Amino acid sequence: MSTKQSQRMRLLRFARNDNRKDIMTKKYNVAIVGATGMVGSEFIKVLAERKFPVREIRLLASGRSKGKMLKFCGKDHEVQELTKDSFKGIEIALFSAGGGISKEFAPVAVKAGAVVVDNSSAWRMDPEVPLVVPEVNPDAIKRHKGIIANPNCSTIQMVVVLKPIHDAARIKRVVVSTYQSTSGWGKEAVDQLWQEVKAAAKGEKLNKIKKVLPAQIAFNVIPHIDVFLPNKYTREEMKMVNETQKIMEDDSIKITATCVRVPVVISHAEALNIETEKKLTPEQATEILRKSPGVEVIDDVSKGKYPLPIDAAGKDPSYVGRIRADESVENGLNLWVVSDNLRKGAALNAVQIAELLI
Ligand SMILES: NC(=O)c1ccc[n+]([C@@H]2O[C@H](COP(=O)([O-])OP(=O)(O)OC[C@H]3O[C@@H](n4cnc5c(N)ncnc54)[C@H](OP(=O)(O)O)[C@@H]3O)[C@@H](O)[C@H]2O)c1
Repeated sequence: MSTKQSQRMRLLRFARNDNRKDIMTKKYNVAIVGATGMVGSEFIKVLAERKFPVREIRLLASGRSKGKMLKFCGKDHEVQELTKDSFKGIEIALFSAGGGISKEFAPVAVKAGAVVVDNSSAWRMDPEVPLVVPEVNPDAIKRHKGIIANPNCSTIQMVVVLKPIHDAARIKRVVVSTYQSTSGWGKEAVDQLWQEVKAAAKGEKLNKIKKVLPAQIAFNVIPHIDVFLPNKYTREEMKMVNETQKIMEDDSIKITATCVRVPVVISHAEALNIETEKKLTPEQATEILRKSPGVEVIDDVSKGKYPLPIDAAGKDPSYVGRIRADESVENGLNLWVVSDNLRKGAALNAVQIAELLI
């Protein structure tokens, strides 16, 4: 190599390192709307754990939480009341304060120059808004116009598993039954569960305890999540149908869901029955799922090994087990899928979207 060539190589290397340094040192002003909630608290944890490059963190909630101190990366930060002026200088806004707040404030944040990743259902089915699960449809993010929607928790953990099976064998129909934790309905639902459990342990009556869920949840299961629609499904059930088709970009996949609340604190479980066009043996499906991003197979029934909500809590993957043939149809599979609804079902998926953005 001539002296000139080696000088050029040195310059190129320098330029490359310099660029990398710029990327590594670029930090972002991030707002969390609903920072005091179940999902908001998880946002704070996940951003820190994944070393998201945060310059400033702005924690926003209702007036009730104004002045409350929350820790981010070991430092105390004061919660501010959400107002129309909350987004000055913010580059990424993570919303998890309910649909009404997202409808009203996401456009305000976008106008102030932020990209919004929204956890509520407010924007999910808007054709202008991408609905993204990074393992499934990362390219959809390119179409965003300021708002990117995070799907429903029970949909996210399901599509991470459906996508590789669809790619291999084309899914015709899915029948899903969910077993959803109380944290999926926010902190007040978890409070209801604990109060009922404590009262029962003391031999007290449970009917005086304030209910945010439609019925007593301790020692019970409730086949009612979100409101009933004219077709007698709940809105949660129809979210699983409509959002799955949008994320998978395939309206031909037929889906029917029954969503049930169970007295578990964290992690949703789902029994999936899948009918495919091409035959997939349970062994082939297992092999495919073992290699799929965001999925972890735990399936050894001889040793009593299958995914459990209690083990999935605090972890990232969609865990799959009980993989077996549906012997009542020609090309059918049954699976059991469990994932932490506050992480992959909400905060982790949204932070992964923010990572794609930067
Ligand atoms: N939980 C899940 O598994 C899950 C999964 C996916 C998506 N989501 C969605 O995420 C959102 C939040 O759920 P969550 O479970 O975290 O609920 P949550 O525990 O009840 O928390 C609600 C949050 O919203 C804030 N908030 C309420 N009213 C407000 C207002 N007027 N102005 C500003 N902030 C307000 C609350 O602040 P205060 O503490 O001040 O009241 C709190 O920080 C919902 O849209 C939900 O559908 C939840």
